Amino acid sequence: MLWIPIDRSLDIPLIRQVYQQIRERILKGELQAGEKLPSTRELSGELKVSRNVILEAYDQLLAEGFLTSRTGSGTFVGEGTFLEQPKKTPLFHAFNLEDDRNEDNHVINFRSGIPALDLFPRKTWAKLSHAVWNDTSNAMFGYDIPEGRPELRQVLSRYLLKTRGVNCHPEQIVITSGATQALMLVSKLLLSPDDTVVMEDPITDDIQTIFTTTGSSLYPIPVDEYGMKTSLLPLHTNPKFVFVTPSHQFPLGGTLPIQRRIQLIEYSRKMNCYVVEDDYDSEFRYEGSPVSSLQGLEPDRVLYIGSFSKILSPALRIGYLILPLHLVEKCRRLKWFSDLHTPSVDQLILTRFIDDGYLERHIIKMKKIYKKRRDFLIDCINTTFSNKVTICGYSTGLHLILELQDFHFSIQVLKQIEQAGVKVYPVEDHTIEKGNHSNRIILGYGHLNNEEIKEGITRLYNVIYTC
Ligand SMILES: Cc1ncc(COP(=O)(O)O)c(C=O)c1O
Repeated sequence: MLWIPIDRSLDIPLIRQVYQQIRERILKGELQAGEKLPSTRELSGELKVSRNVILEAYDQLLAEGFLTSRTGSGTFVGEGTFLEQPKKTPLFHAFNLEDDRNEDNHVINFRSGIPALDLFPRKTWAKLSHAVWNDTSNAMFGYDIPEGRPELRQVLSRYLLKTRGVNCHPEQIVITSGATQALMLVSKLLLSPDDTVVMEDPITDDIQTIFTTTGSSLYPIPVDEYGMKTSLLPLHTNPKFVFVTPSHQFPLGGTLPIQRRIQLIEYSRKMNCYVVEDDYDSEFRYEGSPVSSLQGLEPDRVLYIGSFSKILSPALRIGYLILPLHLVEKCRRLKWFSDLHTPSVDQLILTRFIDDGYLERHIIKMKKIYKKRRDFLIDCINTTFSNKVTICGYSTGLHLILELQDFHFSIQVLKQIEQAGVKVYPVEDHTIEKGNHSNRIILGYGHLNNEEIKEGITRLYNVIYTC
């Protein structure tokens, strides 16, 4: 007997439910050509519906050719009604997005760039959010302008001048969905196939991908403990721009000294190219004095990118791109055709958060906490590994680099580390020229407490020294 589940609580008429389910089974080949269907009387009895329901459903299927009827013999599935179903492919089959959130409590995940999520200023955010949702004009619930709320751009230009020496008018700011969208906009704005981007090597693999998807190629410049080795900038190739993370090189952690900054600006003038400065986590500097932005040195040539992902939360998806004036209009258009604009109300909440002084207080508080976590991690590494390792890139940010001598973090070793309940990230994943950093891993600590840090380092040591 043919079993068709009928749901009387649905708004869908019974005839439609019967028709659809038989049709679907025929298309999928579950009911095959030539197969006999139960009589209308049998099926109506089985499904406890009136015979008319089945009669009408069958009539419809007969009219569409899914069924045929032979007088005196019954109703059969028609020929040529099977449609091969495409194989179900996973949603992200071509691009495997790893879900690295720390949801498995047993795994200690040293992923970089994650702030302390439990210390997000929930109460203040909720209070401001409540006020903004109550006070805001009805217009704020409509479409907005692509460059973002003028209030936020105003507050940002003051804040960035004060804290980062960024020299810009609010009109030069485009609010984005995090630094990632700013990078995407830069690549659409400046790059065409066959262009060249000069960039630090290693550098975040996602950023490499964003630039190369335009058909451009990357010209890698090695990085040392001070960031990009600017003496190696190429004169034989004309790049569209040089990409740098000068405040805190990702991943190696260096801060570009003023001499190299000047060399870089001079290079961009000579080659008539732009510089793209990604200032993604400059706020948490624990040692040495902060160095002002490159943008402040040459506002007409430097595109400056910032983000609230590390100082507040990556879930906010709010960042910004500061452009020389002549690029603003094209960028506004690109932003419009990308996602129209970043959510207006969130921008207003953030404006209040900065304007009322909460952001600065939050940064001061978090800096103390992150410094303690960093110091604890360094202590743990030193006591566990004694003098067998080197620690670098720890003066700023939410991660550091652990370097082992004569050791290779192979796929096999990384798997063993993960099986032991720790996740670490090889620098080699972020290199353009492969093979120079295979003894180094990135250890993000911003989101881990002391217990997790200690346990993670012990597990890591145990795997490495039993390999
Ligand atoms: C160097 C660098 N820039 C930008 C980003 C992206 O940040 P956002 O969350 O603002 O898109 C990252 C991510 O961690 C990063 O490492």
